[in-house]
Amino acid sequence: MNSDVPWWQTESLTVNDGALCMDGTVLETLARTRGTPLYVYSRPTVQRRLLALQEMLAQVTDRYKIYYAMKANRHAGVLAAARATPGVGLDTCSPREVETALANGFAPDEISFNAGMLSNRDLAILAESGVHCTLDSFSALRRYGEMVPAGTPVGLRFDPGVAASYGQQPKMVYGKSKFGFDVEECAAALDAAHRAGLVVDSVAMHIGWGLPQSSADLIDWAFGRLAGVASQCPTLATINVGGGLGGRYLATDQPLALETWRDLIGKHLSPLGATIVCEPGTWVVAPAGLLIAEVNTVESRRHVTWVGINAGYALNPLPAMYDIPLEVIPLCNPLAEPALVANVAGHINEGVDIWAQARSLPPLEEGDLLAFFPAGAYGSSMASNHCLRGEFQEIAIG
Ligand SMILES: Cc1ncc(COP(=O)(O)O)c(C=O)c1O
Repeated sequence: MNSDVPWWQTESLTVNDGALCMDGTVLETLARTRGTPLYVYSRPTVQRRLLALQEMLAQVTDRYKIYYAMKANRHAGVLAAARATPGVGLDTCSPREVETALANGFAPDEISFNAGMLSNRDLAILAESGVHCTLDSFSALRRYGEMVPAGTPVGLRFDPGVAASYGQQPKMVYGKSKFGFDVEECAAALDAAHRAGLVVDSVAMHIGWGLPQSSADLIDWAFGRLAGVASQCPTLATINVGGGLGGRYLATDQPLALETWRDLIGKHLSPLGATIVCEPGTWVVAPAGLLIAEVNTVESRRHVTWVGINAGYALNPLPAMYDIPLEVIPLCNPLAEPALVANVAGHINEGVDIWAQARSLPPLEEGDLLAFFPAGAYGSSMASNHCLRGEFQEIAIG
């Protein structure tokens, strides 16, 4: 690999004649026309990545299905890109996501649902919708069973039992968390589903967010456990390996390789003969998007240079709330040599509203535009209106 090429350059995100471009569109021009803060998403990138996942799964099974996890990004352009990819459905986690999926042209049998702590109202809407539900509590099985016809298929979600995530961050770990039956509870959960009149056709496990290559052994172990519960289920049709792929946020990050993921599925799960289901969010959409904001302040305070921008953590909680860094790329001169070390801060009245700390940046002036990358996943979809600073624009291109 050419070391002069920054890690964030992709087939879609390029530098042409010194300007940062997405799918050939000059982002500076787009942002000056549309205004900032502005999220920009690449439709071709979403499709390319879904196709790449399909190709990978096809190497270990001829029965697989991808449900793109719309919680990562529900912009209509992103959903349309998923919809235009043959064989791809949507994974949802709330009644309103189900409603949005249906409104964006996905049929009930192209929508999966996977969430916990569900109210009777949630369950009634799900029962009415006809989408396939994966449930993770005895309570939900009992109440859902009372609402649907006998013989309705359902999935069971299991706790992976391992702590694996981006940077081993506790907030991103799903093992021993609020989600899922313990593997040891499998027989009891199957029995509860049976008593509720449900047919368990799927077992599911979502291991963690941003799984790194260094967690391959933990995933190996967790998939072994998933295979164990799968083989206890006499009516099994699918095995759902959740999401968790992706997670390249820094040049030094080493996310779980698709090949490793494929091999672990091939080792433990595809030999069982069930359809392999996955629910990727981050891997599909994170590098398909960036957020553009405008510099409004460049000033030294107590010997620290501060760069202030017109976007705060209300628009993207990853750096401030989860300690997940984003690359800061100046739009007009993306490849310029660093000239200052600065903190980049948002405009929310909270001390945690910091995008980057002690970051080497090229010379910046008030009025310059900065892109934050990758920002396609869990940015706009997690936006809030804190301090009434929740306004932004979004566009899908390509
Ligand atoms: C059950 C389930 N499936 C899929 C996903 C998508 O995960 P990711 O964005 O890590 O691919 C999540 C994320 O929280 C999840 O909880």
